Amino acid sequence: MKIQTITTQPFSDQKPGTSGLRKLVSVFQQPHYLENFIQSTFDSIGAVQGQTLVLGGDGRYYNRPAIQIILKMAAANGVGHIKVGQGGILSTPATSCVIRKYNAMGGIVLSASHNPGGPDGDFGVKYNISNGGPAPEKVTEAIFARSKVIDQYKLLDAADIDLDTLGQSKMGDMIVEVIDSVEDYAQLMESLFDFDQIRQLITRGEFRLCVDSMHAVTGPYAHALFEKRLGAPAGTVLNGIPLEDFGGGHPDPNLVYAHDLVEILFGDDAPDFGAASDGDGDRNMILGRKFFVTPSDSLAVLAANATLVPGYKDGLAGIARSMPTSQAPDRVAAKLGIDCYETPTGWKFFGNLLDAGKATLCGEESFGTGSNHIREKDGLWAVLFWLNILAVKQKSVQELMQEHWQTYGRNYYSRHDYENVAIDRANTLMDQVRAQFPTMKGKQFGAYEVEYADDFSYTDPVDGSVSKNQGFRIGFTDGSRIVYRLSGTGTQGATLRVYLERYESDPTKHHFDAQDGLADLIKIADEIAQIRVLTGMEKPTVIT
Ligand code: G1P
Ligand code: ZN
Repeated sequence: MKIQTITTQPFSDQKPGTSGLRKLVSVFQQPHYLENFIQSTFDSIGAVQGQTLVLGGDGRYYNRPAIQIILKMAAANGVGHIKVGQGGILSTPATSCVIRKYNAMGGIVLSASHNPGGPDGDFGVKYNISNGGPAPEKVTEAIFARSKVIDQYKLLDAADIDLDTLGQSKMGDMIVEVIDSVEDYAQLMESLFDFDQIRQLITRGEFRLCVDSMHAVTGPYAHALFEKRLGAPAGTVLNGIPLEDFGGGHPDPNLVYAHDLVEILFGDDAPDFGAASDGDGDRNMILGRKFFVTPSDSLAVLAANATLVPGYKDGLAGIARSMPTSQAPDRVAAKLGIDCYETPTGWKFFGNLLDAGKATLCGEESFGTGSNHIREKDGLWAVLFWLNILAVKQKSVQELMQEHWQTYGRNYYSRHDYENVAIDRANTLMDQVRAQFPTMKGKQFGAYEVEYADDFSYTDPVDGSVSKNQGFRIGFTDGSRIVYRLSGTGTQGATLRVYLERYESDPTKHHFDAQDGLADLIKIADEIAQIRVLTGMEKPTVIT
């Protein structure tokens, strides 16, 4: 087998975004495109010779060919051992788990998360470091810098590997080990949660659950955990076979895209508990019977009840949430006497806090929750955490949530997305909001008075690195907030995200629909940013 050195030219657009490099499949299929990015990665992460790497993806279109290319490049670059998920399947949390368990140097995750898949959909590549988490900005910046000057890459002239048969084989000098996609992850889950107690809850007959894998990566994991190990009846997992195009759906677990599940949970004779996860398995949506749990509230509930769960029985070191996530977890942290960190959007900012033992649980409003068990957010982990708490408390999802609001007050919260906005219009909108900052303090909007207006900047408390331009915050004197951000994961046009939050301490006012509870702030958000005028859209494309 011969190592080929192939001459190439740089592409100018290989800058990793919020979560790796995401592009249309057709962009990745251009000659040398994937190869350039992978070689730039190998050139930027330190010596890979003799090292162990983990490789897998969410099963979307182009996953298998990309894996074969990456294996040949890894072998040509001197990697010692690669663990690949069977069939090319490894959820993002499972990849993180495997990297950590086997002390790998890092891993490559092939996914565009919740973005649609198929030949006309998106593809993505993300590098995770030895702690199992997404590469920090200094690494992604080095990869981008390298991609701008790269002029050659290495590829082993070898036959494809059989990805479907477990076991080891060799590609040149490199060991390729096809591993069970589920086993390591399932063992980790069993070490954190009380499976006996959850099994009792869901086999007793009175408590029914329904888990929607949206034809994405969590299917095999959900079957193994809920139906096999926890004894839920067959059929509990819906859409449990990963498909290359996710069945034509948009594998994003929210009220809009997981509508099949929402119809079941809001229909007649609804089950007690519903959950969905995204393309690569790191997101989750939690539903009760006719009840939606806001992700920010979910993090707060997990934190408030963590000591009921074996893996967290000794309590939490701290909580971390992304800036646009509601301040509901802050209230729990205050009561527990622990710190609550506010980080920029994106899971990579949690890694240092988790590694340093400053935070145990973390979460984002975008349906992401996780803990120090790995360094990614983890959809099925959140589902098991909820089930464990419900099994101990013997309460319904709605009862648990209402009880939480009684204790801590309710942070009414919603995110409004305006997708596929022309990039120049989105930039104009952001510029015009920024221009108002100097005169905003003290300004009155109806009942709300502005306390501060800023462009969020974060100084990492562990390594002191500074991340600027992380979204606009407009904070009001009563603790309410409006946040404006442009998405860093989209592949078409710009996506404007508007995050709205209002605190309500009075339990007699906790029963409103979030959109009603936030009606005044929604108007103010439009008044400040001229959203309808500048986007040309009368309403958001997605409300969560
Ligand atoms: C979105 C979410 C963010 C999440 C990321 C990756 O990023 O808002 O919380 O970490 O996807 O799943 P955005 O498109 O807003 O940059
Ligand atoms: Zn994801």
